[in-house]
Amino acid sequence: MEEHLSPDATHKLAVLPGDGVGPEVTDAALAVLEAVGARFGIGFETSSHPVGWTAVQATGSPLPEATLEACRGADAVFLGAVGHPDADGEPPERRPEAGLLKLRRELGCYANLRPARIYAALEDRSPVARERVKGTDLLLVRELAGGLYYGEPRGWDREEGRAVNTLVYTRPEIERIARTAFELARGRRRHVVSVDKANVLDVSRLWRHVVTEVAADYPDVRLDHMLVDRAAMELVIRPAAWDVWLTSNLFGDILSDEAGAVVGSLGLLGSASLGDGVGLYEPVHGSAPDIAGQDKANPVGAIASMAMMLRHSFGLAQQAAVVEDALETVLASGLRTADITGSGGTEATGTRAFAAAVADVVRP
Ligand code: NAD
Ligand code: IPM
Ligand code: MN
Repeated sequence: MEEHLSPDATHKLAVLPGDGVGPEVTDAALAVLEAVGARFGIGFETSSHPVGWTAVQATGSPLPEATLEACRGADAVFLGAVGHPDADGEPPERRPEAGLLKLRRELGCYANLRPARIYAALEDRSPVARERVKGTDLLLVRELAGGLYYGEPRGWDREEGRAVNTLVYTRPEIERIARTAFELARGRRRHVVSVDKANVLDVSRLWRHVVTEVAADYPDVRLDHMLVDRAAMELVIRPAAWDVWLTSNLFGDILSDEAGAVVGSLGLLGSASLGDGVGLYEPVHGSAPDIAGQDKANPVGAIASMAMMLRHSFGLAQQAAVVEDALETVLASGLRTADITGSGGTEATGTRAFAAAVADVVRP
């Protein structure tokens, strides 16, 4: 049975389109959100704010104070992508990526969920053989607020020709992300693999120790440990064997792009960044400057992120499932953006037309 909420049940969403393909995939996700609102009679109040290189050019900062305030005051935040080639020579504080990193930290988003599932219609699109990729349903749980991304000291001493970043994790940081992974595994296949580099790094030894301790509270969930180099290999040779992978900020960043490739395209992956307060939803891919402004970007990752927002921030699990089913339906109907057409001569559908097709399936 469909649940119809009163039209005045408004959810407040801060939208940060960002750079490159960011605005294109954001518009696509908003078109689908509009269809969800129409079908279920739910009000979504959206406001748009600059972030990334776009914000640097407008205000001098990649995360203007007004943008951060709007995010803090919202029920959820949706971000397209940040990053621009023109920013390459800029000082660290004027880099678009710095805005995103600050936003994640300020919102207390320490748990980044990056699901990588193979769509049945795309089993032939994976660079991994069909019989291996079939059934892949991996949830990467990436620590997002610590590790090498944030550790001090850091910096590049140009005169000395020396640069430093610091990899640091504390027990509470590891414990909370481990609990997230174990809790999520309980709703899935009850298997957590903690991915580290404990044969070399002291930080990974602490990581492994704390994760093992936390596991004692979850006797119903199986825990294994795996070194990250082997994990990179396992993802390609046996992607369907895994349930939940728990890992640090940098390893999770790298493995999630690989997971995207395994299921057919980086453009397919959505993510949720959760923690103490407001949730942040962003596709896993970047600003894709090589295809920006051409209506070529795959909007599936952005739309999947929007579905995660409905589920995790707005308590609209049924509506999230409707959106996810619509993605499955549209892909099964044969529509493909250029990144997933393959060599079979399928004509590519543009970002806007693809999103409109998904919205049409969602709408009554
Ligand atoms: P990228 O993810 O932008 O692109 C990698 C490759 O995948 C490119 O060939 C691109 O065309 C393709 N691709 C990415 N998204 C796609 C989509 N939706 N549909 C079809 N193809 C897609 O990574 P990059 O090129 O390494 O980085 C470009 C910029 O993006 C950099 O400035 C980087 O810092 C930034 N970045 C931002 C985020 C984010 O905002 N969350 C994530 C990753 C990278
Ligand atoms: C991601 C991106 C970001 C990260 C960059 C843009 C800071 O690559 O979300 O995967 O490294 O976390
Ligand atoms: Mn990344």
